[in-house]
Amino acid sequence: MSILYRSEAERGRIWAGIFAAEAPDLPFHIWPDTGNPEAIEYLIAWQPPADLLRSLTNLKVLFSIGAGVDQIGLDQVPETVSVVRMVEPGIASGMVEFATMAVLALHRNVLDYQRAQRSAEWRQLEVVPAAQRRVGIMGLGVLGQAVLQALAPFGFALRGWSRTPKQLPGIACYSGSDGLEAFLGGSDILVCLLPLTDATRHILDQRLFTRLPKGAALVNLGRGGHLDQAALLEVLDSGRLSAAVLDVCEPEPLPSGHPFWQHPSILLTPHIAAVTRPETSARIVLENIRRYRRGEPLRNVVDRAAGY
Ligand code: NAP
Ligand code: GLV
Repeated sequence: MSILYRSEAERGRIWAGIFAAEAPDLPFHIWPDTGNPEAIEYLIAWQPPADLLRSLTNLKVLFSIGAGVDQIGLDQVPETVSVVRMVEPGIASGMVEFATMAVLALHRNVLDYQRAQRSAEWRQLEVVPAAQRRVGIMGLGVLGQAVLQALAPFGFALRGWSRTPKQLPGIACYSGSDGLEAFLGGSDILVCLLPLTDATRHILDQRLFTRLPKGAALVNLGRGGHLDQAALLEVLDSGRLSAAVLDVCEPEPLPSGHPFWQHPSILLTPHIAAVTRPETSARIVLENIRRYRRGEPLRNVVDRAAGY
């Protein structure tokens, strides 16, 4: 029985060190060294190729190295293999930092001041109190809830939207397609922290943008596939939306010459909002493997029908 890690090799060496120290009975291979492929029961990967999955005939659990699993292509993973997504404190704290930075930057007009600076213009904009700024988070999962908790002390008026109904203290909660319009109508800053599924692909489209208050701003921290890029350009250029912070794009990297690179109302970052930390995630995967070997249910198993 052994483990195969197929992602960035440098981080893999940190994982290997932790497994060697804490689970010396579990051989740990870093791809392309697979050892005997038939001995591999656990695969840790971001995007495992189909031929690799086919060659691991005794695979039991596929651990996504990320919180999202859309990049895996769930339909190519045999039904006998459990897919587990990454829930670990490193991702949550990175996302909290980045989302807070993005919301505060939009709240305090950082993109407007950057444009003004470039044209040497000294112009003070009205300071809107946080209590009068409504921040809406799409996705009330591990990351959406962590971000809401971090934003609460600033005094923003917070709301969230999820697939199934939720009750969260201090948060106006909406759910499902019935709740979407009311949720959007009170979101001055909209943050997308949804998983990418058949139900959420291109959810950030023209129709959604026109339901936001005029001058609203967007933060996309989910996946590039959530966004209809042409629709965003149109609403930014017409002034319907004031600004966007985009950490994810489709494709990644964004091709040179793409209009997002130079757009004055877009702050673009290269999918770095939250990065899985080997030191914390390796121990969480190891604990889950131990649960599995004891016959206990795995934590954070993906619901294949829902796609997340
Ligand atoms: P999670 O715990 O699975 O939460 C997902 C949330 O989205 C849940 O609240 C779920 O609703 C909601 N949702 C799913 N489908 C929906 C739909 N059709 N309509 C309305 N709500 C829906 O996931 P997470 O750990 O918070 O991660 C969220 C996503 O963040 C990941 O999938 C990934 O794409 C992205 N991410 C990005 C980065 C980055 O660096 N940019 C890093 C990590 C993760 P229910 O609560 O009702 O199930
Ligand atoms: C990163 O995007 C992740 O899904 O963890």
